[in-house]
Amino acid sequence: MTETTEKPGVLVDLADVAVHFPIKRGVVLDRTVGYVYAVDGVSLQIERGETYGLVGESGCGKSTLGRAVLRLERPTGGKVVFDGVDLSGMKGEPLRRMRRRMQMVFQDPLSSLDPRQSVQSLLFEGMRAHGLGSDRKAADKRLRELLSAVGLPSTSLRKYPHEFSGGQRQRIGIARALSVGPDLVVADEPVSALDVSVQAQVLNLLEDLQSEFGLTYLVIAHDLAVVRHIADRVGVMYLGGIVEESPSDDLYEEPLHPYSKALLSAVPVPDPVVEDEREQILLSGDLPSPAAPPSGCRFHTRCPWRQPARCDTERPVLRELKPGHRVACHYAEEIRDGRLKPHEVTAEAVNPADFGDLDITATPSS
Ligand SMILES: Nc1ncnc2c1ncn2[C@@H]1O[C@H](COP(=O)(O)OP(=O)(O)OP(=O)(O)O)[C@@H](O)[C@H]1O
Ligand code: SF4
Ligand SMILES: [Mg+2]
Repeated sequence: MTETTEKPGVLVDLADVAVHFPIKRGVVLDRTVGYVYAVDGVSLQIERGETYGLVGESGCGKSTLGRAVLRLERPTGGKVVFDGVDLSGMKGEPLRRMRRRMQMVFQDPLSSLDPRQSVQSLLFEGMRAHGLGSDRKAADKRLRELLSAVGLPSTSLRKYPHEFSGGQRQRIGIARALSVGPDLVVADEPVSALDVSVQAQVLNLLEDLQSEFGLTYLVIAHDLAVVRHIADRVGVMYLGGIVEESPSDDLYEEPLHPYSKALLSAVPVPDPVVEDEREQILLSGDLPSPAAPPSGCRFHTRCPWRQPARCDTERPVLRELKPGHRVACHYAEEIRDGRLKPHEVTAEAVNPADFGDLDITATPSS
């Protein structure tokens, strides 16, 4: 166990974290023929009590990064420090003890809950796994309090997961995560399986619980509106790396990285006048495979502002352009000030409401 020095307010500190999955071939020898660079050099810090939102296209590495934070995935490089303790090489009992302080809430509450267990036994099981709940009476009282905190009646304890609606099941998933008293909750697409009408209720619940229990959140979502609703700060991920990080309002008002600009410009605006005048940023091509990421700036194959030579060869690092607003682009200032113009594009962009399936197919003419 390595103690590290850092700012007292920081709960999660990732330094150059990488998770590379080997690609195996061959029946007998099981050779490694390459790697999926799912997470490749992520450094970020999450302050105690804040909500950090992580957004990006499907397959860019969000879930893998979330799992690396909880050490459910062992990083192949870099450091994962939780509350001053380096988890990177930790295993066995010390890791299990740390895990109690970090819990996960999943996208599909049903698939993460055993259908044959009553809510009571599901919640007890979670507590017992961490050596809690031996005093049955006290544990019972805690469960009732938790259920009430997530807005469910205590009669729910005797019911089974299929007897609840999607929103209620997510409330059970949240209660289960909170039953062990964590400091950090990683919520991976916590509302994407829910009806839009229920999404806001669950997000509001997460916010209420955060202040009640002093929680820190890492919220992963492909829906920019969800992240805007809940996050204090947002990290935009592209092909295993963070390309922009900023206070939430700042990012939505003035995205500075070409990729974030394109994402936000693809989200429809409710005001028809603004919608008509809005300029869409069109991208060419598909998301490259994380098994063969482009050289230099990973976004160069789709970037409308790409400059020859440097963009193709030198990977940009995150640089602070405004307080707390970091961007990984060699030409961020020139683009922001309009000194560099995007290349012409010839086709119309698709206008996806969310970029989970982002398909911006226009091709630049130059
Ligand atoms: N256990 C694994 N073994 C090999 N490859 C993996 C494994 N887990 C994830 N990957 C690959 O790593 C990349 C990142 O996956 P990840 O699930 O982290 O993306 P994501 O951003 O969460 O996507 P989505 O929005 O679809 O959930 C993908 O190419 C995925 O196929
Ligand atoms: S570094 Fe170059 S390719 Fe990458 S985002 Fe900036 S302008 Fe585009
Ligand atoms: Mg995912």
